[in-house]
Amino acid sequence: MRMYDLIMKKRNGGTLSRDEIFFMIEGYTKGNIPDYQMSAMMMAIYFNGMNEKETAALTMAMAESGDQLDLSGIQGIKVDKHSTGGVGDKTSLALTPMVSACGVKIAKMSGRGLGHTGGTIDKLESFQGFSTSLSEEAFIDQVNRIGISIIGQTKNLAPADKKLYALRDVTATVDNMSLIASSIMSKKLAAGADAIVLDVKTGSGAFMKEEADAMLLAGEMMTIGKNAGRKMMAVISDMDQPLGNAVGNALEVKEAIETLKGHGPADFTELCMTLGSCMLMVAEIAENEQQAREMLKEAVDSGKALDKLAELVEAQGGDKRMVYETDLLPKASSITPLLSEKDGYVEKIQCDEVGICSLILGGGRETKESAIDLSVGIVLTKKVGSHVKAGEPLAYIHSNEEAKRLACEERLRKAFHIGDKVKKEGAIIHQIL
Ligand code: URA
Repeated sequence: MRMYDLIMKKRNGGTLSRDEIFFMIEGYTKGNIPDYQMSAMMMAIYFNGMNEKETAALTMAMAESGDQLDLSGIQGIKVDKHSTGGVGDKTSLALTPMVSACGVKIAKMSGRGLGHTGGTIDKLESFQGFSTSLSEEAFIDQVNRIGISIIGQTKNLAPADKKLYALRDVTATVDNMSLIASSIMSKKLAAGADAIVLDVKTGSGAFMKEEADAMLLAGEMMTIGKNAGRKMMAVISDMDQPLGNAVGNALEVKEAIETLKGHGPADFTELCMTLGSCMLMVAEIAENEQQAREMLKEAVDSGKALDKLAELVEAQGGDKRMVYETDLLPKASSITPLLSEKDGYVEKIQCDEVGICSLILGGGRETKESAIDLSVGIVLTKKVGSHVKAGEPLAYIHSNEEAKRLACEERLRKAFHIGDKVKKEGAIIHQIL
């Protein structure tokens, strides 16, 4: 088999066989197929697409390119959750302790942030001493002991995807449905859970700007998962404006804690309740959504969900006092309001721009190697549909450097579109599949 022939086949609109896809992925992972040939293949796939069988084969080839976690040592149905990412997406921080307090086994591998979207692993490191790298044995042992562990992705989990994603990132071939679906699902399958709940975002701050495309992506991922023997559910949720109010690592941790106490923003709380219900149902702990919601509410009202987060933090070496006393979390040296220059209604908040503002403050990574400042970020006080008067704060900027604050302020102001139209805030949940 020759990579040249496979590229030509795909370029001419042909269909690659399972063997051809495995040959290509194995060869690329081992370094036998160079980046320039793989780039050409990615572009051919970008333009000509892949059918369901090809997408499934690509997913399996990438999932099998490295270690596959064996979670059979953990009793019960192990449930994972994946979000396609967005600005202010701190869902895992609140959701996983909530569902774990209801009895769902959480053995989760999460990523770090890159670019303007944050990662769960960085956020968890806001708890002083929290270790995100455990041995497989310690990881499984912790889930058996306390029902939850969250660690960073091990180096050898789906290495083919790691290499390919980096290549797609610099060759303008990221936003293809089959490539995104196989990339996400290869990591999820290799991570070993029995059931997976997907949170597929739609809107200006998401990969999938249109709801119809988000539905297609969710459908592709669900098909891949079901064919691999996993129970699947998906939620299509809104990313037309930042999720909740806080954007920035420790600020998002604080908001997740408020949510675990029952005082979170309405959109974020509803997303956690919806995803949590799905997780309880696929884990066969709740029979229907109503029962699941009641269980989740009880976990929050009783304080068990918050205590579960504290247990997780302590088990992984972190300072659990920070869960109960959020003033101990990393704090920026200055908090400055961004004041509205006019009266009106917030018609739109450019989601990506808010993420970039947090990046400018130092809260995100420009490259994989960059260090991040956990304390900085933005807290929105107005969301789409809010009325605002001139001189009222639209947001608060938490910063440590004046030059960065000024750059952020200029950009953040432009991200808010204020006009005369009374625009209703869109629903956070678009669909449940
Ligand atoms: N996230 C991934 O892991 N892969 C993609 O291709 C896109 C988003």
